[in-house]
Amino acid sequence: MVQLSNTLDDVRKSLNGTTSRQERSKIGQFFTPAKIAQYMATLFQQERREVRIIDPGAGTGVLFATLIETLIAKKHHPHSIKVTAYEIDNVVIPYLKETVERCRMICMSEGISFSGEIRCENFIAAAVSQTEEGLFAVNNERFTHAILNPPYKKINGESAMRQLLYNAGIEVSNLYAAFVWLTVRLLEPSGEIVAITPRSFCNGPYFRRFRTGLLSMMSLRHIHVFESRKKAFGDDNVLQENVIYYAIKKKEKPGNILLSVSDGTDFDNSMVRTVPYEQIILPGDRDAFIHLTVSDEYSSAMERMGSFTTPLDKLGVEVSTGPVVEFRARKYLHKLSDKGTVPLIYPCHFKDGFIRWPIESTKKPNAIEASPHTKDMLLKAGYYVLIKRFSSKEERRRVVAAVYDPNLIGDSLIGFENHVNYFHNKGKGLAPNLAKGLALFLNSTLFDRYFRIFSGHTQVNATDLRKMRYPTRDQLIRLGSYVKHHMPDQKTVDLILKKECENNG
Ligand SMILES: C[S@@+](CC[C@H](N)C(=O)[O-])C[C@H]1O[C@@H](n2cnc3c(N)ncnc32)[C@H](O)[C@@H]1O
Repeated sequence: MVQLSNTLDDVRKSLNGTTSRQERSKIGQFFTPAKIAQYMATLFQQERREVRIIDPGAGTGVLFATLIETLIAKKHHPHSIKVTAYEIDNVVIPYLKETVERCRMICMSEGISFSGEIRCENFIAAAVSQTEEGLFAVNNERFTHAILNPPYKKINGESAMRQLLYNAGIEVSNLYAAFVWLTVRLLEPSGEIVAITPRSFCNGPYFRRFRTGLLSMMSLRHIHVFESRKKAFGDDNVLQENVIYYAIKKKEKPGNILLSVSDGTDFDNSMVRTVPYEQIILPGDRDAFIHLTVSDEYSSAMERMGSFTTPLDKLGVEVSTGPVVEFRARKYLHKLSDKGTVPLIYPCHFKDGFIRWPIESTKKPNAIEASPHTKDMLLKAGYYVLIKRFSSKEERRRVVAAVYDPNLIGDSLIGFENHVNYFHNKGKGLAPNLAKGLALFLNSTLFDRYFRIFSGHTQVNATDLRKMRYPTRDQLIRLGSYVKHHMPDQKTVDLILKKECENNG
């Protein structure tokens, strides 16, 4: 018998072919490939006689259909299955109806009572009203299973949606987090959820409320990470870093979490490890970062980084984002240095661990006028450490640091553009060897690996850098003494770090 999920995969491919990526992005629509749906369905653990499934943002229904197929294939299959699917896109609703009908047939043939309901309405509004507490609250139905691939879309700060969510006590900046949060509220106690979403919620300030809310309501049991950036939704061309997670609605936390990682959809060859809960969510971490230590290499990075305990402020160092925003400062920018201008530094000026300026071949401006209009954007020349905020796909490392050495560039003032973060001391430069040592540390494989545990996106936020721990000032200065006018090659950087900081303590 052809599996329904495989048939739906053909529908997905044909829909992807007939509607444009742009159209689908508008409503945050990316259909789940059958292989991923099949994997997600296997993650549910509890056996129940009565199953009530919710699939918010159901698309063609591939997720609940695959779950039903999986539940039915079990030795002790359910006696009754009810599905509630929310969807707002009229293009997919006929397919969704068809899927519900096919599920009905499959259940009937197995003697399982089935009911399926499609709600063609905004899930957010519906779920908010169904989970409202208070005098007129309706005691609505709760679900045993939730399976979802919610829409991924930023929620505009001014929008009615944001206000609606805010009134319901949900502060999130992306639709996917709102979907997951509300879905969790709609679960019955001990209900289970499996979701696939971007992994951006695992760290970063914007998702703090979501993380803490989710982790307080749920017992997180399994996280699956896609190693390759492209492969999860490969044929839909979505460059998202996704995770799949499985959690149970209860407050008690498990001793361990299962962490698995696969290269794309090759789930059979997933690397799986059991990791103590407190290694994934560190006890006492008010930000509740979720550390995805997916391989031994990564957990060894966690361990090695544990020997560095100095917070940035103890080093007398701060990190900020470059204040020159191109579109605001446009009229003060010059292609090349000119009378009355000072150097302006972009990521294109990074070379071999140092800032090389000017770069004549770049399309970017090299200089900014120094005037009363720009004075708040400029800094006194000195030794700074710069980090690219966005690493390009070709770059091997996510964290790329370079030293701004005033002796190589000169000038009494400088501008750092908004695509770089810079380390400084109260807006001024750092001691030369401290800057060089810090750049060496940031350019090490160890730091890069550790950073990836935190960060699923290619962006390197100043907040993340502030949160890291660093070697002591003495250690950094020792590291700096190895750096002259070039950063040593990667192997040498890693050896120096090991020799100076890990062997000597
Ligand atoms: C990422 S797609 C996933 C579709 C399907 N669950 C799957 O896995 O293939 C999210 C779906 O949510 C739907 N959607 C977007 N906003 C919605 C809303 N406010 N309420 C209900 N559905 C919504 C989109 O039309 C889209 O089909």
